Amino acid sequence: MGLLEEIKKKTEDEYKNINKVVLAFSGGLDTTIIASLLLELDKEVITCTLDLGQKGKLKDIEEKSKNLGIKKHYFIDAKKEFVKEYIWPGVRANAIYEGSYPLFTAFGRPLIAKKLVEIGKKENAQAVCHGSTGKGNDQIRIDAGVSALSSMKVIAPIRDWGLTRDAEIEYALEQKLNVKVTKDKPYSIDENLWGRSIEAGPIENPEQVVPEDAYEWTKPIEQTPSQPEIIEIFFENGVPKEIEIKGNTYKDEIEMIKGISAIAGAHGVGRIEHMEDRIVGFKSREVYEAPAALVVLSAHKDLEKYILTKDELFHKVYLDNVYSTLVYEGKWYSPLRIALDKFNHEVESNVTGSVKMKLYKANASVVSRKSKNTLYDFNIATYNKGSSFNQKEGGAFTKIWLMQYSTAYKMKYLKPNK
Ligand code: ARG
Repeated sequence: MGLLEEIKKKTEDEYKNINKVVLAFSGGLDTTIIASLLLELDKEVITCTLDLGQKGKLKDIEEKSKNLGIKKHYFIDAKKEFVKEYIWPGVRANAIYEGSYPLFTAFGRPLIAKKLVEIGKKENAQAVCHGSTGKGNDQIRIDAGVSALSSMKVIAPIRDWGLTRDAEIEYALEQKLNVKVTKDKPYSIDENLWGRSIEAGPIENPEQVVPEDAYEWTKPIEQTPSQPEIIEIFFENGVPKEIEIKGNTYKDEIEMIKGISAIAGAHGVGRIEHMEDRIVGFKSREVYEAPAALVVLSAHKDLEKYILTKDELFHKVYLDNVYSTLVYEGKWYSPLRIALDKFNHEVESNVTGSVKMKLYKANASVVSRKSKNTLYDFNIATYNKGSSFNQKEGGAFTKIWLMQYSTAYKMKYLKPNK
């Protein structure tokens, strides 16, 4: 029995009530196969492609959809919305999963879900469809978004049909589908403005060094300039407002991210090696390139330290971790995530100022910061003459502040004959 016959038998029942379906379409192997098979099953397929800042010719995808025989395709430029509603709240929350992953894919999925639902409703579709497998995090993030925002069915044929890559390639060749499958670059890539992830092929072996050809946004340290570059990032209410690179000022959020990404990547900043705990329970070796995210997040953290109180900083470490885990685990559409965004909005309302970052030999380090809202007071902190801090008061303060602890230590550890 051919693949098509097998699938028809398997899914006749399961997909019976679906006539019209909106498919998140990248033009790659998985979604091309899905589109073709759904058409064979007599479903009306509408394809949709979102621009989240990934490289490549997105307009060509529309052509691919047409060539498959699909009558309607949506192309949505969602870059601005992605930055304003997802990336920037992530910056306020210092969003990093397990100390390493700046969550760019995880931020993109709830937005894809939202757009699929919008089109699905407009087109009166019974289902939305995506190309995720049953092993990854993305299926959860998209399914979670669609089910929070609608009562539409979500189908994920690769997962539902248990398709293997070999079977897909065989089918693609048989049907003469226009997809590129190359053996020389075995990677699976997902990218957007905030970062690029590289999976599969040699990367799946954690003992193997990542081949240089896996990287596209960052230079190997050996090829970086011998002179450092200093850039300045101006923040307003906890998010970048303007940046200065080599005397040029960028104000548009997309240009800012692209600008930082290019210069930091050229200095080898942004490579991430990470053993990650997936939502589905297993560990995976992940390789990322996220130059802009790393630079902006370090600058932001530094500015927070200059402005926020000790208590805000202390509790924010924990809450930022909660936020990052929610985003990772596909809980974007959850009351706690929304509440934490409101909390961060308030906490960050005075995180305004600028940070200078030095980019050099795969490092991005803070070199200075400036803010009118800082709690740092030179006159208090200085060891020089003329400090307004009255040192004499230090003695009494110390005695009272330590009272409980010195008593406790004595009682517990210095008791005679014990
Ligand atoms: N491990 C990352 C995450 O879970 C990246 C996933 C990349 N997704 C993909 N379909 N290639 O967010």
